Amino acid sequence: MKKINLVERVSCHEQVASSEFVRQLPKTELHLHLEGSLEPELMFELAERNNLDLPYASIEEVKAAYDFHNLQSFLDIYYQCADVLRTEQDFYDLTWAYLLRCHEDGIVHIEPFFDPQTHTERGIDIGIVFQGINRALLQAEQELNITSGLILCFLRHLSEEQAMECLQQAKPYLEHFIGVGLDSSELGHPPEKFTRVFSQARELGLYAVAHAGEEGPAAYIVSALDALKVDRIDHGVRCIEDEALMQRLAKEQITLTVCPLSNTRLKVFSHMSEHNILELLDQDIAVMVNADDPAFFGGYLMQNFDALIEHLDMTRLQGVKLALNSITGSFMLADQKEKHIAKLLDIASQ
Ligand code: ADE
Ligand code: ZN
Repeated sequence: MKKINLVERVSCHEQVASSEFVRQLPKTELHLHLEGSLEPELMFELAERNNLDLPYASIEEVKAAYDFHNLQSFLDIYYQCADVLRTEQDFYDLTWAYLLRCHEDGIVHIEPFFDPQTHTERGIDIGIVFQGINRALLQAEQELNITSGLILCFLRHLSEEQAMECLQQAKPYLEHFIGVGLDSSELGHPPEKFTRVFSQARELGLYAVAHAGEEGPAAYIVSALDALKVDRIDHGVRCIEDEALMQRLAKEQITLTVCPLSNTRLKVFSHMSEHNILELLDQDIAVMVNADDPAFFGGYLMQNFDALIEHLDMTRLQGVKLALNSITGSFMLADQKEKHIAKLLDIASQ
């Protein structure tokens, strides 16, 4: 895609952006775990509907437990919470609630993640999960004008054989997802552990993405690109530790799906004012903004943008660049991308 000179196209480009300006811009979300959008209120509702006991007495108690010191301390609670998801209707309700939030935030397209192994390990059929999620995604296309492509993530703390088994189980549902991803505990589980399963997925015509360089080193970003041949990197903020990698990411315009609130809640950065997203953006790296696990990290997409405005003085130009990167970095078809970009430039110039 031809590079657009945004300085010429964005009015008052050096001004700090307003939240309302960013909300209006067409944006995509490419790094969102559906299980991570399970709000405590819905968790209690589903626990009651499925006759389950929760280890928490109240919503306040749940929120107090969301005090994380690293990725693993979050994942332990996150997998426990997902246990309330049992039926097709549960997966539909979870996905629909997220889509309503997307609509409020001006999101026009999503490529959300789900972790089938978290559910199949508990005896839930993968078909139930696909059907519930897809019913909501189809409804959103018709009623909210939000398009989507679902991404199936393998859990990297499990073995490659288990990931292979998961891919095998998902094969009858190939028309329901567009790509595979890699998430869960990063340290000690380098991307190359999953080389064969990613190769098989790509042979099936699926896109590939992977979490890398969140807690793990910059070398994991390199091996996600070279061994897994991913199309995008999820997080990737630790690329800043490797100058050659930074140059490669900029040259090849590899999208990094960055999650600011997640990174501060999981202590990847000690404070939002320390976050490097705008520094990467200004070095021509194709970063874009996402919520990751909004129910656990204190906010959906617009709250992530609001944090960049408040703590990093994000300008209108930077806001438009981030929105543009979210469109170009997606797996939408070229004509769909062009339609959203035209609207983006129109709003940006006003
Ligand atoms: N699963 C859900 N959120 C995640 C994250 N931020 N990193 C790795 N795995 C995850
Ligand atoms: Zn994530």
